Amino acid sequence: MKEKLYIFDTTLRDGEQSPGASMNTAEKIRIATQLEKLGVDVIEAGFPASSEGDFEAVSEVAKKVVNSEIAALCRASVNDIDRAWKAVRHAAHPRLHTFLATSDIHMTYKLKMSREEVLATAVDAIKYAASFTDNVEFSAEDGSRSDPDFLCQIFETVIDAGAKVVNLPDTVGYAIPKEFGELVAYVMKNTPNIDKAILSVHCHNDLGLATANTLAAIHAGARQAEVTINGIGERAGNTSLEELVMTLHTRPTYVPVTTGIETKRIHPTSRLVSMITGIMVQPNKAIVGANAFAHEAGIHQDGVLKNPMTYEIMKPETVGLTSNRMVMGKHSGKHALRKHLKNMGYDLSEDEVKIVFEKFKVLSDKKKIVHDEDIEALVNEGILRTSDIYSLEYLHISSGTTVFPTASVKISINGKVIKGTGTGNGPIDATYHTISEMTQTRSELLRFSINALTDGTDAQGEVTVRLKEDGLIALGRGTDPDIITASAYAYVNGLNRLEYLKQNPPQESGL
Ligand code: KIV
Ligand code: ZN
Repeated sequence: MKEKLYIFDTTLRDGEQSPGASMNTAEKIRIATQLEKLGVDVIEAGFPASSEGDFEAVSEVAKKVVNSEIAALCRASVNDIDRAWKAVRHAAHPRLHTFLATSDIHMTYKLKMSREEVLATAVDAIKYAASFTDNVEFSAEDGSRSDPDFLCQIFETVIDAGAKVVNLPDTVGYAIPKEFGELVAYVMKNTPNIDKAILSVHCHNDLGLATANTLAAIHAGARQAEVTINGIGERAGNTSLEELVMTLHTRPTYVPVTTGIETKRIHPTSRLVSMITGIMVQPNKAIVGANAFAHEAGIHQDGVLKNPMTYEIMKPETVGLTSNRMVMGKHSGKHALRKHLKNMGYDLSEDEVKIVFEKFKVLSDKKKIVHDEDIEALVNEGILRTSDIYSLEYLHISSGTTVFPTASVKISINGKVIKGTGTGNGPIDATYHTISEMTQTRSELLRFSINALTDGTDAQGEVTVRLKEDGLIALGRGTDPDIITASAYAYVNGLNRLEYLKQNPPQESGL
């Protein structure tokens, strides 16, 4: 029988460390619920000591999810462990995940601690965490650049102290697959009590090798992989769940392990994470990129028509890509929408279906065919943005070859509607200036991108912006058939995210 590989998803923690990707509690719950359906074994919901917002999000995710374990990250200190436990204790299956750096460079310069002090601190932290739960994980931060013998020593010691999972991170994405596989094999061989724990790996993608390194580690005996959806995460990101899972699925004899992942849910999960974080998936991204299953060359298209396996190593349906589009128009009813939402994996309450249906009616007045991507956007905008401070109520633009671009805007600020007018050197500039004046915000627009949500000239525009104010960075996203309106929605969404960050400022976390 194949051995089990545990999938530990850290989209909500390491993934959230992608610049601008911070999520509010409702958004985190939505992603966590989807990850649970996807079948991940562990969901790392956040780092409760890092901010009030993270504390609340971990508590709420812990209360909601029943099938996956919920992990809370904490430094190796009493205060962090207390905060993490207080947030995660509500979970059906809680896990405390504590970390401490073990490489000479981190111990000398960052921690200013000797090896003996690091060992003692790690043991104290594990014992303290184990007084709350027997499900404790220890991460040796910068493990791939640590002395292998010290790594074995600290793993042996923390396992004796109660750690059930020991994690070897390639924190700075420096490892090479062969060397990383050998390090894992060395740890498996030279940690005398390793059979009492699961060895995990956590790879970053600075050299584009995160998935390859994780695979090499699994080949050498690691049985937990820490991953994120779409590979998002600190700097160049983490090992991507979809790449790892589909490699194991497509090449089942290379490493004979099984996962509990329902591969058909991969694509919808990828879309959801991209929509909520505002981080677009690059078109050529393996498995979930827009071009991952698109055949451009005539010779390939001909081959695929004759037999898909000539050029396709995976079936698009296996990852949940379906050509079975929702063809609905303005005469379609609420019942059909409810049914389709369910097929798409959304279990919405009656009130939520009503909100989406109202938005659907407005959209289907403007657009003949409503696609799954449109429905996802409606769900995202209708259900997840309920606690927003700002909302766009009205927008009128005059612009053209002979007109000075002018925007007239109505915005609701904490429920109070105000009006404003302003100009700019184009319609989007005019809209953004006006909204900025009305909200008295001074954010800088770092990036603006626009994309068509589906094919066809009637497609909705999907705009993503990156805003910066007082050192805080937030992404915003908006969709509408009118691209100026979509741009305004994206800007307002970015401002709401900045407000959330102002109210929940991230603290110096030592990561
Ligand atoms: O990259 C890293 O080392 C981490 C640890 C906290 C596991 O994210
Ligand atoms: Zn990391």
